[in-house]
Amino acid sequence: MSTSVGTSKGASRGTNTGVLATNTTGTLSTPLREAVADLPLPAIGEPIIEVRNLTKRYGRNIVHQHLNLEIRRGEIVTIVGGSGSGKTTLVRQILGLERPTSGTIKMFGEDISAVEPERARLMRTRTGMLFQHGALFSSLSVFDNIAQPVRELGKVPPDLLRDIVMLKLEMVGLPCKHASKMPAALSGGMVKRVGLARAIVLEPELLFLDEPTAGLDPRSSDEVVELISTLHRALGLTVVLVTHDLDAMVALSTRVAVLSERRVLVAAPVEEAACVDDPFIREYFLGMRGRRALQALPPERRAKLPAAALAPASVGVKPC
Ligand SMILES: Nc1ncnc2c1ncn2[C@@H]1O[C@H](COP(=O)(O)OP(=O)(O)OP(=O)(O)O)[C@@H](O)[C@H]1O
Ligand SMILES: [Mg+2]
Repeated sequence: MSTSVGTSKGASRGTNTGVLATNTTGTLSTPLREAVADLPLPAIGEPIIEVRNLTKRYGRNIVHQHLNLEIRRGEIVTIVGGSGSGKTTLVRQILGLERPTSGTIKMFGEDISAVEPERARLMRTRTGMLFQHGALFSSLSVFDNIAQPVRELGKVPPDLLRDIVMLKLEMVGLPCKHASKMPAALSGGMVKRVGLARAIVLEPELLFLDEPTAGLDPRSSDEVVELISTLHRALGLTVVLVTHDLDAMVALSTRVAVLSERRVLVAAPVEEAACVDDPFIREYFLGMRGRRALQALPPERRAKLPAAALAPASVGVKPC
């Protein structure tokens, strides 16, 4: 058997799934990371998420007020902000899991509050989500966790389902032998990989990742960052990433959206966002950890950073 996971949907959005040829045992003939290494990054296209004038209140707690954000096809936009600033709440509203108090959210050009239920279901199949706390079903095996979104679509022949699940496992770098394991038997890094495999099982165009590296040791974090980058290239994905992990933000973001004071203060490439004169941005980007992470930017982008970002990571700096 020789399978390719490319679909007509994928072809129309210019994905690189043609590289995902599998061999006779249904496994990838070349590790995915190597197969996509020389491929160009997905082109930046039309807006696929448009958040306009969004306000969200829980009782007297105003989480977002007049918040605006646009995300274009092919981007990796990282949403950063203090704990409780409303990052997860924003993602949940975009996914239609929470209702805005006011304002509009469009996904794929359609107002998500106005679409018919059937249309909304179809839109959900075009998105994948890795929840903040892993959210694997503890009573289901790895295989059944990954298969669950496919099964929700209706009856799928067992052989086809097996191929789909095993290929996704392989894509996230997990040997097939783990398919029968239960979530409790997995390491933190493996749980994230299984969560990622489930998030991409329907070959989404748009992937939401809430804290994909939280709780992982530095090596596992690096591996997950590498995996996200690989999947972005291979599947031509648009990625919305929520993270406190500065290294992941620097490594992955085409733009970073900074949530502060209930709105998006700036949504720009990391080196431009770091130049905004604001107390949260100074603390976040120009503190010791921020400066250390910014050192990983390529020289041409480092050259655009404010002078305070270039002070050695080991010394404190005065605010701008
Ligand atoms: N279902 C809810 N009911 C009431 N308040 C909520 C609910 N969900 C979130 N909140 C509140 O909204 C605010 C933003 O929460 P949210 O979880 O979005 O923050 P966050 O930026 O994702 O934080 P963290 O970085 O800790 O994950 C918090 O004050 C939280 O208490
Ligand atoms: Mg959160």
